Amino acid sequence: MKIAILGGTGSLGKGLASRWIKAGHDVLIGSRDLPKAQEIAVQLGLESSSGMLNIDAAKICEIACLTVPFAHQESTLISIDDGLQNKIMIDATVPLMPPKVMRVQLPEIGSAALNAQSILGEQTTVVSAFQNISAELLQTDAEIDCDVLVAGDFLDARNTVIELAADAGLTGWHAGPLCNSVAAEALTSILIAINKKHSLAHSGIKITGH
Ligand SMILES: NC(=O)c1ccc[n+]([C@@H]2O[C@H](COP(=O)([O-])OP(=O)(O)OC[C@H]3O[C@@H](n4cnc5c(N)ncnc54)[C@H](OP(=O)(O)O)[C@@H]3O)[C@@H](O)[C@H]2O)c1
Repeated sequence: MKIAILGGTGSLGKGLASRWIKAGHDVLIGSRDLPKAQEIAVQLGLESSSGMLNIDAAKICEIACLTVPFAHQESTLISIDDGLQNKIMIDATVPLMPPKVMRVQLPEIGSAALNAQSILGEQTTVVSAFQNISAELLQTDAEIDCDVLVAGDFLDARNTVIELAADAGLTGWHAGPLCNSVAAEALTSILIAINKKHSLAHSGIKITGH
């Protein structure tokens, strides 16, 4: 698949990119800054032409993944215009509001994923995933002992994202409609608190009973 990672120059973007590149996907690194996008593309073993502005990556991709801080979610989605119409956009945004990142703080609309859907409109299918995975671990070849909650309103779109999670070496689970993304987003603050209080580097979640 041709996957555009919007904000692909950051920690999570690079982690997902490296895993999807290894799985054989055609990954585009999106950024606000073209030279930066090209540099990171080359660092990831891609042609420099795979680094591009977010708006251009959004236009030519088959599926997009948004990996920017919550504070810049809205401006990034507005900047890509209608490049994502009739496509799936995976939203990994966690509505962390520094400095109190161990406290669950949710946007008025309910969750970052619902915020993305309201900005993009119904022509884009937002599926939320990857909020509970350490970007640092994704950037290694290590096996990751953490599952992925995949929330979205359409079964086919969730299935596509679960397949992409598998391509990144992770087990994805159907977590219900997009409004359920709030639970995955909130869990991240809990994992940050667990990391801090129990001196863990990368706590994660695992679905049991199977
Ligand atoms: N880090 C993790 O372990 C992790 C895990 C799960 C979920 N998440 C979530 O994933 C998202 C990305 O996290 P991250 O750690 O990868 O973030 P990050 O490295 O701090 O930033 C990612 C990218 O966002 C873009 N960005 C920064 N400031 C911006 C601005 N003012 N306007 C527009 N874009 C801006 C930058 O891209 P350009 O400068 O190239 O445009 C940057 O490379 C966040 O919502 C985070 O909560 C992170």
